[in-house]
Amino acid sequence: MFLEEFKMGLFGTTAPVFIDVNLILQYVTLVILIIGYFKTKPRKTHGYLMVLVLFITAITTILIMAPRLLVAIAGGDIFAVLHASIGSLAIILGAVFASRFIIATTNKQPLVCGTKRMMRIAFVLWVLPILSGSAIYILLYL
Ligand code: HEM
Repeated sequence: MFLEEFKMGLFGTTAPVFIDVNLILQYVTLVILIIGYFKTKPRKTHGYLMVLVLFITAITTILIMAPRLLVAIAGGDIFAVLHASIGSLAIILGAVFASRFIIATTNKQPLVCGTKRMMRIAFVLWVLPILSGSAIYILLYL
């Protein structure tokens, strides 16, 4: 009985629990991302919020999504590959900003980590995988 419920995942779909955990964490990052996007001052708060977003996404990518991508590729799932490509681009861009932020903070230098235009592009690149990931979830598990 307990095992059956475990198999049902957290939302009563056919998704395994770790996939539901991933979904929840990506929406937690979406909330932090939106707060961080509007909270540009003080810069340090903005920077720390975005580093947190990057951290959560990087960990869930390494532990959950990248291994699942191998399964998706084996199944010929082009949509998942597209999702992963945009997501990787977002993570790379986020990592550039985050590393500049950490270096500047450590060296007590002015916090100029990227242009407003590039930050906006990174924001859109981050939201797109959340939407496409949600579509993948619906298609696979509902
Ligand atoms: C900004 C970066 C990213 C965000 C916000 C994001 C978000 C999501 C969300 C919300 C889901 C649906 C929950 C789930 O099914 O687990 C998902 C699924 C998935 N993501 Fe990502 N993702 C990102 C980057 C990546 C990257 C870099 C990869 C591959 C290296 C990847 C591969 C996958 C795969 C294969 C799935 C389907 C998992 C499955 O159900 O089998 N994602 N993603």
